[in-house]
Amino acid sequence: MKIETLRWTHNKLEMIDQRILPASFEYLSYDSAAAVAEGIRSMVVRGAPAIGVAAAYGVALEALRLSAIPKPIPPLAPPLKGGGPVAGAALLPPRQGEGWGRDGFNAGLENGFTVLAASRPTAVNLFWALQRMRKVWESIATQSPQQIAQRLLAEAHEIHAEDIRINRAMGAFGAELLEDGARVLTHCNAGALATAGWGTALGVFRSAVEAGKKISVIADETRPFLQGARLTAWEMVQENIPVTLITDNMAGYMMAQGEVDAVVVGTDRVAANGDVANKIGTYMVAVLARRHNIPFYVACPLSTIDMSIASGKEIPIEERSVDEVKGFRDYHWAAEGVRIRNPAFDVTPAELVTGLITERGVVIQPNLEKLRRLFS
Ligand code: MRU
Repeated sequence: MKIETLRWTHNKLEMIDQRILPASFEYLSYDSAAAVAEGIRSMVVRGAPAIGVAAAYGVALEALRLSAIPKPIPPLAPPLKGGGPVAGAALLPPRQGEGWGRDGFNAGLENGFTVLAASRPTAVNLFWALQRMRKVWESIATQSPQQIAQRLLAEAHEIHAEDIRINRAMGAFGAELLEDGARVLTHCNAGALATAGWGTALGVFRSAVEAGKKISVIADETRPFLQGARLTAWEMVQENIPVTLITDNMAGYMMAQGEVDAVVVGTDRVAANGDVANKIGTYMVAVLARRHNIPFYVACPLSTIDMSIASGKEIPIEERSVDEVKGFRDYHWAAEGVRIRNPAFDVTPAELVTGLITERGVVIQPNLEKLRRLFS
């Protein structure tokens, strides 16, 4: 089954509602930047690359919407002295396709960028995609709003298609790192659902299987949002890739038993020194992997590397609603009145990372110099 996390249908963006998977499989439809931003914030779509693709479509949708709004009819002119007729020009309807003027379009689109940028703070792919869309807009700013909207839509389609190509390339490099028969642990969901398709960490598993390797996956449950239990387990079951679900606190036991050969995870942002932000709990897994001499790999497209920040200390860590920790959905098991924290990501220091799997190859023991070289 091909998982289409995001798809363009009838001039709208459709996204799988990942909040209700795997119990229900449903697409929700989006037609503006504000609606897409809300989809990102509420986790209908999640995973760094998928958030970036959604944001690009959010910009395109906003441009399409704004360029189709008819020019407002100017207010009626005051009656002429002596009670003469109202100025006829004010009553003319806007011309077809005229839009509401460049200033309105520019201000509206700018607002769309702002709303999207405020949706989630940690995954740098969101800001990377917005920056790329802005550059396109700036390069054709003198064209008509309709032309700009079409060009932005083409760019969003390109970002979408490119993400799948990049995941395939990373998958091929990553698959070489896994031995035939390897038992690989992963945390959260870095699969087709977290990208435009194929996945980053799960893309490595898919590519290894495609190359004829018999691998099996151990999926951490990933409290509190359960991306591992709900999404990774579901994806692997769909593909017939052997998968075993464990709760997050079982990873150390599994490693101590000699049941884990490698760890592969995704990432939301990598700093210039190679520090890796990923789903909360990843740091714990990396420390355990080092303790047990197990390689710890991070599948990471270049769009997730943020060379503007020196270290992981500068990565903004999202704090989500305490309700997610209190229980799940409407069922709350925590004691009423208890203080709760819910940081959604943590940072794994570069020294614990065996290698970054990128679309340009594997960067063993990443550091500033090696990452600079990657971009040169
Ligand atoms: O809060 P989420 O579900 O958006 O967090 C997702 C992760 O942490 C993923 O591991 C990361 O985005 C990489 S996805 C290829």
